[in-house]
Amino acid sequence: GYDVSKLLKETGAVTFDPGFMNTAATTSAITFIDGDEGILRYRGYPIEQLAQHSSFLEVSYLLIYGNLPTPAELDAFDQRIRRHTLLHEELKSFFAGFPRDAHPMPVLSSAVSALSTFYQDSLDPFNEEQVELSTIRLMAKLPVIAAYAHKKSIGQPLLYPDNSMNLVENFLRLSFGLPAEPYELDPLVVKALDLLLVLHADHEQNCSTSTVRLVGSANANMFASVSAGINALFGPLHGGANEAVLNMLRRIQADGIKPEDFMEKVKNKEDGVRLMGFGHRVYKNYDPRAKIIKATAHEILGKLGGNDQLLEIAMRLEEKALADDYFIQRKLYPNVDFYTGLIYKAMGFPEKMFTVLFAIGRLPGWIAQWREMIKDPQTKIGRPRQLYVGEAHRDYPAR
Ligand code: ACO
Repeated sequence: GYDVSKLLKETGAVTFDPGFMNTAATTSAITFIDGDEGILRYRGYPIEQLAQHSSFLEVSYLLIYGNLPTPAELDAFDQRIRRHTLLHEELKSFFAGFPRDAHPMPVLSSAVSALSTFYQDSLDPFNEEQVELSTIRLMAKLPVIAAYAHKKSIGQPLLYPDNSMNLVENFLRLSFGLPAEPYELDPLVVKALDLLLVLHADHEQNCSTSTVRLVGSANANMFASVSAGINALFGPLHGGANEAVLNMLRRIQADGIKPEDFMEKVKNKEDGVRLMGFGHRVYKNYDPRAKIIKATAHEILGKLGGNDQLLEIAMRLEEKALADDYFIQRKLYPNVDFYTGLIYKAMGFPEKMFTVLFAIGRLPGWIAQWREMIKDPQTKIGRPRQLYVGEAHRDYPAR
């Protein structure tokens, strides 16, 4: 009901683009996406090749520093991260302050924000050594904080990191290990988690990454900016979707609804119900990450003994959706989250941890984007305009 062009003229703004559907906020040399073709590349390398040959640690290095590391560079990166896994002892008391049933995502964002109070010697965004130190600290400590948030929520004691293990192995041990009991790593779980983290490592200017950049554009430090990104990721339309997918599949199973009937509800937009794990702002084709995950979901679930019935329901929904006019017309395809929840569940993670796992995966992307933004001479503080549609001038009434 508003005359947008008139409002634009009045404001002196040139575009009205709610949701930034059509606005490039930055140049970037990190991640390339072609949503129509279903292409995703990190620093030029196709996601399919990285998924097959690389590792989360190597992909993190690639995203943050721009090139694949030599074996010596990768080893040095790994060793530096291992040396920084310990959390300040007082930071651990933080975990006692939250209610026991707290969702681990706000616990994670709060603790990451608190890193600015414990590690004040690496907060200057324009000091390269400090930026490097914050990078390593975040890579090393965020997975530890994530595992502690999980342990806290199930009432188990917090273990110290074991630095004979790499980042992914350590995270699994801290999440599932118990004191005085040796923890045996399952190579299949390590490999599957590593792959999932690689697939989530960056996705250009999505909501959480744009948040990291916007907060960082005010020269906020890396811990503060990443903490803001974690809060954005907590939203069910973004990182919370994998949890929402599993809840949806469970509900369908528990209520004994036929996938066909559920699809009708979605299409009729009953109670605003959506097919979670479907649709994407950029991909108007099969999400290439979903393709990779779909191919391995069966193998992983077969070996880990996942819930076959839920996988069956998921596959049936997918099959129906891909053949349905509603989804075809709107170009709605499965996104990366459609299958990940089932795999996380089979690994033993509770639903509440799913988005936390996404955050661990997305961390190198956030760091790489923050570093690129800070170094970019074109960066200005992010400050969108608005079209004012409220009351015109009003005089305060005499009383
Ligand atoms: N189920 C049913 N209908 C859908 C779905 C869905 N999952 N997604 C979009 N639509 C419909 C909308 O109702 C709308 O229909 P209309 O034109 O008749 O009104 C049309 O498709 C376009 O939808 P928008 O919401 O405008 O698309 P947008 O690009 O803004 O949203 C989003 C993208 C948020 C991902 C959306 O598809 C969605 O809500 N999906 C479910 C949640 C989800 O899986 N999120 C994960 C995203 S991926 C990630 O973060 C890793």
